[in-house]
Amino acid sequence: MDTPILKKKWEKNYEIADEQLKKIKKVKGVATGFNANIDAIYKITGEKLSELIKKTKMSLKELENIERCRILDEKDFVKGIFKSFRYGIAEEWICENKKVYDWIKKQIGYDYLQIGGQGGIMANVLSTVGVKKVFVHANSLPAIQAEQFAKNDNLLSFDEKGEMKPAYQINRSKDLPLMHWIIEFKRSDTIEIEGKIFKTPKANRFIATYDPLNLKLVLDENYMAKIKEEKLDFVVLSGFHALLSNNDGEALIDKVAERIKEWKKSAPKTIFHLEVASTQDVIIRRAIALKLIPLVSSIGVNERETMDLLEVLDQKALAKRCREQTTAENLLKGLSKIKEKTGVERVQLHMFGLYLTLQDKGFKISPEDNLKGMMTASVVGASKAKTGEVDSKSIKSVKHEVSDVGLIELDSLATALGQPNLVISGLGRYKLWDLIAVPTILIEKPITLVGMGDTISSISLISAR
Ligand code: GLC
Repeated sequence: MDTPILKKKWEKNYEIADEQLKKIKKVKGVATGFNANIDAIYKITGEKLSELIKKTKMSLKELENIERCRILDEKDFVKGIFKSFRYGIAEEWICENKKVYDWIKKQIGYDYLQIGGQGGIMANVLSTVGVKKVFVHANSLPAIQAEQFAKNDNLLSFDEKGEMKPAYQINRSKDLPLMHWIIEFKRSDTIEIEGKIFKTPKANRFIATYDPLNLKLVLDENYMAKIKEEKLDFVVLSGFHALLSNNDGEALIDKVAERIKEWKKSAPKTIFHLEVASTQDVIIRRAIALKLIPLVSSIGVNERETMDLLEVLDQKALAKRCREQTTAENLLKGLSKIKEKTGVERVQLHMFGLYLTLQDKGFKISPEDNLKGMMTASVVGASKAKTGEVDSKSIKSVKHEVSDVGLIELDSLATALGQPNLVISGLGRYKLWDLIAVPTILIEKPITLVGMGDTISSISLISAR
């Protein structure tokens, strides 16, 4: 593999992104749901984590003893941060205790607020890149939450009387603000505990979620009724990952499945996509895999979510293999199993440095269009990582240079599949399906990572045209 030549080739391929961004403006309507919340961003360092550990008087042994991936007391919160920090992994744990929530608020506060939740994040991004109308579902919309939405008049939601308005102007003053703590750390930061040094291998985040409404999957009935009157090209759904099996989670999934079926009936031409999101509760994860994925035509996953899905689809050995060797080749096997087991027509993986889409032949979006959408997503994602913004100025500042990591991964995949052209064109096949692969632009020092997957999946789908 000659990397500089390939990089040039992909730089050329990526030229199409500008064109795609213009085409997005032709998309008439997208609905995003169901979760929108406030993300309270807190940048943690090894030093600050050390203070928290001291405050909670925890030994290393205690920190490592994780019996539940949930936050029932302060110690769970600190354990979660430590686990994410030391392995450089993304985790989201649910906090069900208001007292712990108050404790977190008092102990660390936050650096700044921004919109959160897959639905919220995707709505901000899609309205900013120019989709004509974006309808965001919000089960809570007091001013503090509404203010986190982009000041875009094409980003719409509903007030308490069911009147449609730009989301940022709404103030459903009786609603509860839903706060999620996003504890972000940098790569190579260190912490010393009992003489042992731990160094984070990757910049990442730990999320502590206190969100009674999304935990119950409360729907805004005004939205659910009125959205059926709108012409929608896409419905992008997520927000089921915070449900808990000991809190009626499965029944809530059954109920929402019925609502989605109804919605689909009223919008037969609309493409429904599900962003899977990291789901800790295994029973809920299985219900998402078996009851929700079969309802949509397309899903988005990262590496971790791929393995998690495999686990609940009785593919433990393959999940283990992916965990031990997180290569594109193994993950592709994983995607194909997910497709087989759920029947979903299109699966898209965004992994570090590479995106892969596996889809049915004859799917509504052609492989060529998918390829264009994936490259556009890479540019928009890089813009977000670089500046935190996805406006045209920021998007223009991104250099179209794909990462070595992605190219190397793609090259080994192409070799393993015996499809040398895949590394040049990004188009190939796997079993009976079309395979599309794109090496991505990586930003050396991203200023933010939260919401990256949501941005990639939604832009990739919506700009595939
Ligand atoms: C999860 C979190 C939310 C965050 C989002 C980012 O939904 O609950 O706080 O904004 O992930 O992808």
